[in-house]
Amino acid sequence: MKQAVLLAALAPLASLPVVQAGATESWISTIWNDFKEAVDCGSCQVLLGGLKLVADFGEGFMEDVLTGVCDISGAEDRDVCAGVIASEVPALHYAIKNMHVGSHTAKTLCSALVGLCDFPDVRPFDLAFPSPKPANSRPPPSGKPPIKVVHFSDTHVDLSYETGSNYDCSKPICCRVYTDEDAPGTTDKPCGPFGNTKCDPPHQLQESMMTAIAELNPAFSIYTGDVVAHDVWLVTKEEVLQDLNATYGAMESHLGLVYAALGNHDAAPLNLFPSHNVPSKYNPQWAYDALTADWMALTGIESVQNANEYGSYSAIHPDSKLRIISYNSIFYYKYNFFSYTEPMEYDPNGQLTWLIEELQAAENAGQRVWLISHIPSGDVDHFRDHSHYFDQIIQRYEATIAGLFFGHTHTDEFQISYSDYKNRNWDTATAMGYVAPSMTPTSGSPSFRVYDIDPVTFGVLDFTQYIANISDASFQTKPTWIPYYTAKKDYGSKLSTIPDDTAELTPAFWHNVTVAMEKDSAVFGEFWARRTRGYNVPACTGDCAKNEICALRGADAQYSCVQRTPGFSFSKRDGVDGEVEEVAPLLSKRFQPECNHAGMAPLLAKIAHRANLAKMNGE
Ligand SMILES: *[C@@H]1O[C@H](CO)[C@@H](O)[C@H](O)[C@H]1NC(C)=O
Ligand SMILES: *[C@@H]1O[C@H](CO)[C@@H](O)[C@H](O)[C@H]1NC(C)=O
Ligand SMILES: *[C@@H]1O[C@H](CO)[C@@H](O)[C@H](O)[C@H]1NC(C)=O
Repeated sequence: MKQAVLLAALAPLASLPVVQAGATESWISTIWNDFKEAVDCGSCQVLLGGLKLVADFGEGFMEDVLTGVCDISGAEDRDVCAGVIASEVPALHYAIKNMHVGSHTAKTLCSALVGLCDFPDVRPFDLAFPSPKPANSRPPPSGKPPIKVVHFSDTHVDLSYETGSNYDCSKPICCRVYTDEDAPGTTDKPCGPFGNTKCDPPHQLQESMMTAIAELNPAFSIYTGDVVAHDVWLVTKEEVLQDLNATYGAMESHLGLVYAALGNHDAAPLNLFPSHNVPSKYNPQWAYDALTADWMALTGIESVQNANEYGSYSAIHPDSKLRIISYNSIFYYKYNFFSYTEPMEYDPNGQLTWLIEELQAAENAGQRVWLISHIPSGDVDHFRDHSHYFDQIIQRYEATIAGLFFGHTHTDEFQISYSDYKNRNWDTATAMGYVAPSMTPTSGSPSFRVYDIDPVTFGVLDFTQYIANISDASFQTKPTWIPYYTAKKDYGSKLSTIPDDTAELTPAFWHNVTVAMEKDSAVFGEFWARRTRGYNVPACTGDCAKNEICALRGADAQYSCVQRTPGFSFSKRDGVDGEVEEVAPLLSKRFQPECNHAGMAPLLAKIAHRANLAKMNGE
């Protein structure tokens, strides 16, 4: 039977099949069974073969079948299943219809979404550099008084947040009135006026944060994306535009100069940013246009090349030798179905080539560069191929790149690049990626970061993480934004060579911090707790600490020690402590709402997980 389905999928179809009466029901049960049988790479390909047959009946048919399967699985409420699938089915349909079962693309899909194939080997790709790598290295600090730069991320403001509504609902985010029982005055679990860990935050939390940032009087700020809330099954273009208006409007009125990056949530449907090789009808041009207008207003820069083409730009910070390059990381995101083309593109929209041109121009002009983007290039959510290509660029321009700045994970992390990943050491560490935690409180207290920056080299001399403690009794009256920890004091003091006040936090410094974590589990424990600002700190036992340290040393994702994890799930209803952890201990730390409910791709993973459980229970 399975073999037959696979063969049928591989055989060219003579003519377009005609949908028979009752065919939807039978395909729902066939696909549900394929999900149940999907236990390894081969059976995942069978599942893709089945989905290809479904795709041949058209988008509408695929939508009906997947919604039916989602319903049987109980992965989400019916309206959530239906909403997510309806919005993303055009992209999934496009990808699956063109996919070759068993190809690199198909295996990448099966490893990235359901952990059923090994991550395929990185495909070699020659990046052409205009000139050889120069002999110079990072310049030493100037010794001049530092300037302050604020980094905030993943704000996810929910304009439909209602104070007093139910915070304990069955949806991906609460604090909205979905039913009469959720209404203020009716529910006995009311949301406070400034936010709840089960909800994306109200606008007034953002007002509070930006007021606190403005009081610190930074030279400028960086924002690493994700304006829109996680109501992914409901979100529309109109809502996204309102959200962009509210959040970028708040930046304009409170903060002045902000360099920002595109987030995977900053369009509707989310995650789907096709390259120029995909038909243009799928392009979220309206989102690029709106963001370009916002970015131009914030930077005062007249032309931001590429921004309205694909959400990337390069700008020279006024009266300085700092070039800020904001690039679109969503092309390399495993939840962007439009990236699963056949074959997968090596350089979507030529963005990597453009990055090389910008970095070369900076090198020629004696400038330093900051790269800002949403998804950390070494993250588990980033394609390994493009992580490696990107890291090659970092290696070539390591002397020019002063720092990389990311968001997306909602947690406080970092990533180190090395010239030699087989010998990851303080003297092979070449670049620092700073990952700032979120404002949305779904994975810990709302947070922003203040860097001390050398005004000449633009190297990071120190940073202080700020939080407004959501567990504090006064939070709902008025959030107080307080320093939480400081990198040089709280990590530097753990090193055998304590850096002095004027030293840069170099890649070598951060490598040495990871060595201190290896030697002393208490140092690792502090890092581990800080990831979520002390909130719901998951246990990290067995090989967990070793793997996490390896991930910090994994800016080239193929070296990050992240294992594929069959049948993982991010469902809130599956719980953090429950059945999921048994299935997927390695990804336990990733059970955070930031990954939760990010659309169709995690939904498919959840369905696969539920199908596995159903099979185990003999259903
Ligand atoms: C938000 O919308 C208002 C009303 O259309 C407009 O005046 C304002 O410029 C917009 N602000 C941003 C940041 O888009
Ligand atoms: C936040 O407040 C709670 C309750 O007062 C307290 O237990 C916790 O330690 C605080 N967290 C931080 C990081 O200060
Ligand atoms: C890192 O550790 C090595 C070995 O202990 C030491 O030689 C080096 O100076 C340290 N570098 C920094 C920046 O901490």
